Formats: sequence, structure tokens, C-alpha cells
Amino acid sequence: MKNMLVTGGCGFIGSNFIHYILSESGYKGRIINVDKLTYAGNPENLAGIDKKFPGRYCFVKADICDRQAMEMVFEKHQIDSVCHFAAESHVDRSIVEPDAFIKTNITGTFNLLELARSHKDKILLFHHISTDEVYGSISDGSCFTEDTPYHPNSPYSASKAASDHLVRAYGTTYGLPVTISNCSNNYGPYQFPEKLIPLIILNAFEEKALPVYGDGLNIRDWLYVTDHCKAIWLIMQNGKRGETYNIGGDCEMRNIDVVKMICDLIEKIMPRPNHPHLQELITFVKDRPGHDLRYAIDFSKLQTELGWVPAESFETGIKKTIKWYIDNKNWVDRVKSGKYMSWIKQQYDL
Ligand code: NAD
Ligand code: TYD
Repeated sequence: MKNMLVTGGCGFIGSNFIHYILSESGYKGRIINVDKLTYAGNPENLAGIDKKFPGRYCFVKADICDRQAMEMVFEKHQIDSVCHFAAESHVDRSIVEPDAFIKTNITGTFNLLELARSHKDKILLFHHISTDEVYGSISDGSCFTEDTPYHPNSPYSASKAASDHLVRAYGTTYGLPVTISNCSNNYGPYQFPEKLIPLIILNAFEEKALPVYGDGLNIRDWLYVTDHCKAIWLIMQNGKRGETYNIGGDCEMRNIDVVKMICDLIEKIMPRPNHPHLQELITFVKDRPGHDLRYAIDFSKLQTELGWVPAESFETGIKKTIKWYIDNKNWVDRVKSGKYMSWIKQQYDL
């Protein structure tokens, strides 16, 4: 793999992946990052990377749904591998405005697959980044395996499920070398503060309400983003073509416990004498429609076949994350000057 197309590289996981690939992975080739720069895409996440790695990074602002623009990228940069992150990624938005999810997540993925098919002689791998949410909600005591039937419940997860099926079908029908990874909830640096963890951290810094949907008893499995990036790279190098790998953090937590832990850690890291306890800011708000109760991942296939296990525990990862948001106040201020807060306030009557 010499010319790797990374889609959505200015988003949360994509930018962490590019940092990891160029700095730590041992990959010697070039990264061509194609991103449409939606509200969630932030080139600042990769500021200075082209100078740090001369000749190894190139940015193209384009929409993956634009077949002509993407054809030019494949041709001009002699793309030989694809790591496909670009997506609309926020469940709440998918409930209010599903159109963009169908376009980018399904049609956009289809476009890339068609391009990969027409350049099949050069394509060594098409790796598709997906989510555990395609499996739906699972009851206590069991975990999603790669064989769990798909049962997506939100427009977001349904669109990701559709894209997974297309990727697998292109592997089977056209012999395209594909791999798919389905990962649990990520957290870490550069995450846009519409998702639970950065939203709670940043609201807590400002002593604003900490919104918890419903009764806060929904369970998610949490994974530090760099662990996800390492797993993706391992699968890209050594994963069996045509296969799916689940990636998880072995870290199931109820939302309310995540929020309380963040409150307690912030109070320890930044003591605030004479202020009310942050936990007092927790505000239960109306529940998300179709809110999945529990996600839990069995990643034993990835562990057994490729030797991957997460390096970070939730405690070590969340401490790093809180510190990152403290140390990167300028990034936070610039991101917050956008419109995300007003959208959230409007949705949840805060
Ligand atoms: P994100 O919303 O932070 O970033 C998405 C990026 O894709 C942005 O840079 C955006 O500008 C870009 N993009 C959106 N539409 C585009 C289009 N039409 N053309 C080109 N670029 C476009 O998302 P994320 O959290 O980094 O997630 C990345 C991928 O990982 C997604 O496919 C998501 O489904 C998957 N995933 C995310 C999580 C998680 O917890 N965040 C967990 C598992 C899987
Ligand atoms: P989120 O970060 O949006 O990820 P996902 O919906 O993909 O799992 O939400 C994580 C969990 O936190 C989910 O159960 C919804 C809940 N949640 C809140 O309780 N409050 C919030 O403000 C947000 C954004 C999410």
C-alpha cells in the first residue's frame, strides 16, 4: 500500500488515524485525505501534518458522493488502498435529518466501491469503518459477535448497515479485496462535542447543564480512539480479505456512570473550591426515540487472529481525554463558535 485514500480524515477518528499512521505505524507510503468538511470536519485536527511529513500527506476537499471528483482522485494519486471513514455519524441528527445519512453513508460508499471496482487491478484493499450499532440492542449477558444478525434501529445505524452489506457484496461478487470493522463507541482527542463524552466534558468546564437522556441506564462499550486506530491498521495489514472484525473496549458502562466519573475526575484535575459539585449539574432530559439500551462487543476474533487488545482502560483513556480538552482550549473555542450548541439546546430544551 503506497497511496492510501483516507476518506473523512478531518473528522474525529479519521484525524487520529492519520496522526497514528504517519507518526507511529511504520507505514511508509502517502495518505490522500478526501473530506467534504461538513460541520464535523475540521482541518485544524491535522494542522502542520504536511510539513511534519513532507510529501506524505495530501488533502483534497471533495464529496465522496461526487463520482467525477473521486475518479480524479483515484487517477491522479494512483490510489492502491482505501480506508473509508467518511460518514454522517451522529444518531440524534440522523433522527431529525436523515437525508444526508442516506446520501453519504450509502450512496457515498457505493460510489467509492464502484471506483475501486473500476480500478480493481490496482486496489490492494478497501477497508470499511463501521459501528457495532448495526447489530441493534442486546440484552444482558450476551455480546455482539461477527455472526450476530444485523438489526439497526436508527437511520444512522441502518445507513451504516446498508454500507456494510454493499462492501461485503463487492467482495463476494466482484472479488474486491475488502475488510470491515465494527467498533464500539470511541472517545479521545478531536471529538466533536455533540457526542456524549466531549459534550459532558466541555459543559462541565463551563458549569452548564449535563444532559442525560432518559434514565441514564443505557449501556455503551467505550474504546479510546488510538486503540481503534491500531486495530484498524492491524486489520488492514493482516486481516483476512472478505472478513469482518469486531473491535471493542471491554468497557461497558451505564451513561449515568460515565457522566458521574467525568464530573469526579474534572474536580480532581481542576479543583474548584467553593463551587457546587459538578454532579449537581446532571439534568435528565427527554429520551432519544428508539434509544438502544445496550451495546456489548465480543472482539475475541480480533484478539485470537491478530493479537489485538485495547491498551487503555476507561480510567486512563478518559483522564488523557479530559487533559487534552483542557490543554487545547483554542481548538475548543474555535469549534464551539460554530452552531452545535444551539442545535443541541433546541433539541433538548436546555
Ligand atoms: P465524524 O463525524 O467526526 O467525522 C466524519 C468526517 O467525514 C468529517 O470530517 C466529515 O467532514 C466527513 N464527511 C462527511 N460526509 C462526507 C462526504 N459526503 N464526503 C467526504 N467527507 C465527508 O465521525 P467519526 O466519529 O470520526 O466517525 C468516523 C467513522 O467511524 C464513521 O464511518 C462512523 O460511522 C464510524 N464509527 C464511529 C464511532 C464513534 O464512536 N465515533 C464508532 C464506530 C464507528
Ligand atoms: P453518543 O455519544 O451520541 O453515541 P451513540 O448514540 O452513537 O452511542 O451517545 C452515547 C450515549 O449517551 C447514548 O446512549 C446517548 C447518550 N447521550 C446522553 O445521555 N446525553 C447526551 O447529551 C448525548 C449526546 C448522548
